[in-house]
Amino acid sequence: MAAAVSRRSGAFLLFLGSVLGLSDALFGGGAPYRRQLSVVLNPNAPLPPPGGDLLHVRAVGDNDTIHFLFCSLGAPTLLLVHTNTSSSTVRVDWKKFEERNISGSLRVEPESSVLDSTAIIFSRLWEYNDVNDTGHVTSDPFPPYELKDFLWSGLNLSGASARLCGVAATFANGSLCVQLSVFESEGRGLSWPRLLHSANSSQMGVWLDGVLPRAARSRFMLELRAVGGAYPVSRVEAHRSIDDEYTPSIFKVSRWQSAVNGSSDVLGFVQWKPVAYRRLNPALEDATPCHHSEPQRLSAEETASLSALVKGFYEEPLTYGLNISFGIAGEPFYNSTRFLSWTALVGVGAPPVDSFSVLVVSMMVFGLGTPLILLLLGGVCVCVRKRTTAPPALAYEPIN
Ligand SMILES: *[C@@H]1O[C@H](CO)[C@@H](O)[C@H](O)[C@H]1NC(C)=O
Ligand SMILES: *[C@@H]1O[C@H](CO)[C@@H](O)[C@H](O)[C@H]1NC(C)=O
Ligand SMILES: *[C@@H]1O[C@H](CO)[C@@H](O)[C@H](O)[C@H]1NC(C)=O
Ligand SMILES: *[C@@H]1O[C@H](CO)[C@@H](O)[C@H](O)[C@H]1NC(C)=O
Ligand SMILES: *[C@@H]1O[C@H](CO)[C@@H](O)[C@H](O)[C@H]1NC(C)=O
Ligand SMILES: *[C@@H]1O[C@H](CO)[C@@H](O)[C@H](O)[C@H]1NC(C)=O
Ligand SMILES: *[C@@H]1O[C@H](CO)[C@@H](O)[C@H](O)[C@H]1NC(C)=O
Ligand SMILES: *[C@@H]1O[C@H](CO)[C@@H](O)[C@H](O)[C@H]1NC(C)=O
Ligand SMILES: *[C@@H]1O[C@H](CO)[C@@H](O)[C@H](O)[C@H]1NC(C)=O
Ligand SMILES: *[C@@H]1O[C@H](CO)[C@@H](O)[C@H](O)[C@H]1NC(C)=O
Repeated sequence: MAAAVSRRSGAFLLFLGSVLGLSDALFGGGAPYRRQLSVVLNPNAPLPPPGGDLLHVRAVGDNDTIHFLFCSLGAPTLLLVHTNTSSSTVRVDWKKFEERNISGSLRVEPESSVLDSTAIIFSRLWEYNDVNDTGHVTSDPFPPYELKDFLWSGLNLSGASARLCGVAATFANGSLCVQLSVFESEGRGLSWPRLLHSANSSQMGVWLDGVLPRAARSRFMLELRAVGGAYPVSRVEAHRSIDDEYTPSIFKVSRWQSAVNGSSDVLGFVQWKPVAYRRLNPALEDATPCHHSEPQRLSAEETASLSALVKGFYEEPLTYGLNISFGIAGEPFYNSTRFLSWTALVGVGAPPVDSFSVLVVSMMVFGLGTPLILLLLGGVCVCVRKRTTAPPALAYEPIN
């Protein structure tokens, strides 16, 4: 009896194993693309720069390199530069870079190897009093927090991740933090929304912790600016996403991407699920929907004045901007938990796309497969019994 049970559970495990293996082969797609990462803080700076830090993560692939640059001189900015060689380098003229008044103080060399570049600036934090609980700005919002004027901490590095926290005078004990993570190969974030990443994308997390709201019914919006070379990320598309165990109850993914004329190729993208969380360790009810405004063309000059990195790298920073609003009508206001976190991917090439997870595939296989197998087995048993009990001459007798 015990032996039979263990044999059956053994067969079950074998079946489960083959299902997992099969779904891995179907949905995993072979060995993941890997990059070699090297991390340098303030590359070749004679002295630590007084106003903030510049982090350089070099991600070298087979025949290409992505340079991830993250800077807190001015508003927090992430710059991705994709080159077609594995030997390109970043050169910073620190004196000019810190003066922030000319372009060309930060270069990626050789210049002819640059395929594309995208910068994302976290430019402003908007707060509005949602008196009628509409989830939209209906009257004048409060004056925005300019992130370029924040007092930023030094970059807190751990591996290929860096965290930056900043405060404004009226934040009381609160802070706004931005975290960059760069990855060697594909995987998933550890906390919700558990975005799928690859070696070609980095993850940006933003959270607003303990800030004193200026009204009891305050909601917040984050203004992002995207700067590009020839093809800036200019339009946002919403795509359906598979709702699986990674991001419960969210059926969409929003993708802000570069539009290349007459081609479906994506050069650079910012991708997020339209959800934020109202607690650091959220439960399902702490998820709150987000929405975004249409990207607008913004002034290149004003954008360059916000960020040392954009000023130093771009001559003519073609800029689009949008607002991500946290919360919709009927959702609790910021004051309910005084916490909000939101996560996005920023990368080059085709954005990662969720496929069914192994768990969902196994459930489908068990849910649909088991009855099918039972049906087949039942059919076989009936046939076998008929063959052994009935004489051949009666084989065509109609069944009652
Ligand atoms: C990289 O370049 C080499 C030679 O230039 C080529 O043989 C190889 O196939 C390339 N690898 C990839 C992954 O493109
Ligand atoms: C940039 O600023 C520095 C110091 O403020 C000044 O000496 C220099 O002339 C300026 N350069 C340009 C091109 O404006
Ligand atoms: C790519 O690499 C080749 C050979 O190194 C070079 O000639 C070319 O200009 C590079 N840049 C682009 C954008 O293809
Ligand atoms: C809120 O609703 C009231 C009544 O409908 C209206 O008078 C008021 O202007 C609204 N306030 C805002 C900020 O939209
Ligand atoms: C840096 O991060 C680590 C781990 O997240 C934390 O323990 C440490 O206190 C942080 N250091 C500073 C200076 O914020
Ligand atoms: C800030 O923190 C201090 C000490 O932790 C506390 O006494 C004070 O009440 C806090 N202020 C606000 C506005 O939360
Ligand atoms: C990442 O980029 C490399 C080089 O462009 C490409 O070969 C690879 O397929 C990309 N990986 C993913 C997961 O998109
Ligand atoms: C936030 O909520 C608390 C109660 O949870 C309340 O005492 C406080 O006055 C509210 N803050 C503001 C700015 O309305
Ligand atoms: C894209 O195409 C349109 C018309 O086909 C043209 O007017 C526009 O200048 C093109 N833009 C770029 C960046 O090539
Ligand atoms: C963000 O929202 C504020 C307030 O409604 C608005 O003034 C600003 O222009 C918006 N920014 C962008 C880039 O749409």
